[in-house]
Amino acid sequence: MSGVTRGPRGETGGGTGAEAGVEAGGDGLFALPAVEVAPGAMHLPGHLDPKAQRELLDACRVWARPPAGLRTVRMPGGGEMSVRQFSLGWHWYPYGYARTAVDGDGAPVKPFPEWLGEWARRAVEEAYGDGAGAVRYDVALVNFYDGKARMGMHRDRDERSDAPVVSFSLGDACVFRFGNTEGRGRPWTDVELRSGDAFVFGGPSRLAHHGVPRVRPGTAPPALELRGRVNITVRAR
Ligand code: SIN
Ligand code: MN
Repeated sequence: MSGVTRGPRGETGGGTGAEAGVEAGGDGLFALPAVEVAPGAMHLPGHLDPKAQRELLDACRVWARPPAGLRTVRMPGGGEMSVRQFSLGWHWYPYGYARTAVDGDGAPVKPFPEWLGEWARRAVEEAYGDGAGAVRYDVALVNFYDGKARMGMHRDRDERSDAPVVSFSLGDACVFRFGNTEGRGRPWTDVELRSGDAFVFGGPSRLAHHGVPRVRPGTAPPALELRGRVNITVRAR
């Protein structure tokens, strides 16, 4: 696995006035602007270029195999999550972290790779500016969405660290609903997350509610050969 591969934003340099208002969709010709969705919540469209997306997806395909691979998550109330999931570094279960897949096959969780922490720090620096990305990340949750999977509004609050969460999306696009810290309801902003996008939420938005009400089947870049959506959230425990 090589190091961070920069998306189109990194290669074209910072935005200039001349780029303002250029419509996305130029397939990497123009830098896509970062969007502040809420204070501390930054959407970085096209952050991972196609090669980086491929590398991350290939790694996910290996990690998803047993032991401690992809599983269906059962909630304490008896229901099942529609996404399937595995973890790296520390195993997340509702609601805590363990060193083994306590609600799966019981195997030790796979290690969290240092390069993925480096990718997350780069996204944080891009979101907030140089010097912001000094966090020691040690956990990744990987979620697989088929066309019908959803994720209800929730907060990522099983971590003791207040470090920003970094999300990378691969495959099918989705509607990512980013809400508020008070409750699951409005106000919220619906953001279209596409393959290669990063989303960083920290500071006043670290404990904001968020969810995925809809996936858009068939919208993955054909080169990925992926039916569905993979989301990787990198966290510091
Ligand atoms: C999550 O909240 O853990 C996943 C979000 C996403 O799939 O974009
Ligand atoms: Mn979450």
